[in-house]
Amino acid sequence: MSDGNGFMWTRYANTILVTGGAGFIGSHICERLLDRGYEVLCVDNFYTGTRGNIGHLLSNPHFEVMRHDITFPLYVQVSGIFNLACPASPIHYQRDPVQTTKVSVHGSINMLGLAKRLSVPILQASTSEIYGDPLVHPQIESYWGNVNTIGPRACYDEGKRCAETLFFDYHRQHKLPIKVVRIFNTYGPRMHPHDGRVVSNFIVQALKGEPISVFGDGLQTRSFCYVDDLVSAMVMMMESEEDVRGPLNIGNPTEFTMIELAEMVLKKTGSKSKLKHLPLPTDDPKQRKPDISLAQKSLGWTPKTSLDEGLDRTIAYFRQTLG
Ligand SMILES: NC(=O)c1ccc[n+]([C@@H]2O[C@H](COP(=O)([O-])OP(=O)(O)OC[C@H]3O[C@@H](n4cnc5c(N)ncnc54)[C@H](O)[C@@H]3O)[C@@H](O)[C@H]2O)c1
Repeated sequence: MSDGNGFMWTRYANTILVTGGAGFIGSHICERLLDRGYEVLCVDNFYTGTRGNIGHLLSNPHFEVMRHDITFPLYVQVSGIFNLACPASPIHYQRDPVQTTKVSVHGSINMLGLAKRLSVPILQASTSEIYGDPLVHPQIESYWGNVNTIGPRACYDEGKRCAETLFFDYHRQHKLPIKVVRIFNTYGPRMHPHDGRVVSNFIVQALKGEPISVFGDGLQTRSFCYVDDLVSAMVMMMESEEDVRGPLNIGNPTEFTMIELAEMVLKKTGSKSKLKHLPLPTDDPKQRKPDISLAQKSLGWTPKTSLDEGLDRTIAYFRQTLG
């Protein structure tokens, strides 16, 4: 297979590097790549990822794990790179903001350098956060965003923006085959139970019978993409014979208010928890919804899993792990 720049990305007997492979999304990428016949090298420093997320893969002879921090150079032989290493939830990325910027900037430089040496394609897990508190709705890829450069979220938002810049400069300067996906809110099994993200928060609080924390009036909207749909898009982008470079918005455009989500979770879990309204965090976007027409056109991809179905699977996972 060619990515359109003359670089080959063939499927069999090839090792794909997944940085952040022990995290929520990374573990699903590893699993999907193994299912599709690839060898997988998972690199993670276990900052937010866990061995438990990849425990079921450890006995697979086509799967290998390496503990490594990607802010340091890495010398391995691989034929493609999914770069996901970076804490993703505000609680985690604000714990050590300097390290967060480093992972996106130094980490990307290291992984881009590796891809350049090996002449292999590299995919960056970017984020809808690069749009900041958007003034355009729904967000389209050509929108440049509205980000506070000095706020508490800037370490993540600006780090990811700089990573996109690096990816496109490596492409322009070194003809590196790059792929950039802008991921919108994704949920599913193996989300961290205490990362403060709304879906996992609501489910964990409901299952424990604790009050459900709703920020502000709860009328702000979000769209939620089930992890399997996101992983399909990322793998399709890497495998595409066309030169699909992105940036591509990947998410589910169906919007829900926080109150609607809380009510669905309460109904599905049968919980008696009550809603508890808390002040809105700084720079919390009021609305976030992807325009996915570019991904639909260039990949023929569209999300398939309804929130109803995805929540059932996610609740089942948390029921099992919370015991
Ligand atoms: N989950 C979402 O809704 C979402 C939305 C937008 C973008 N993303 C992006 O997708 C990627 C994965 O997110 P996730 O939700 O799976 O988060 P996660 O925290 O579960 O996974 C991140 C992984 O990266 C690892 N990591 C962190 N710093 C590292 C370093 N220096 N070296 C090596 N490994 C390191 C962590 O240990 C973890 O396993 C991130 O890059 C994130 O920015 C996620």
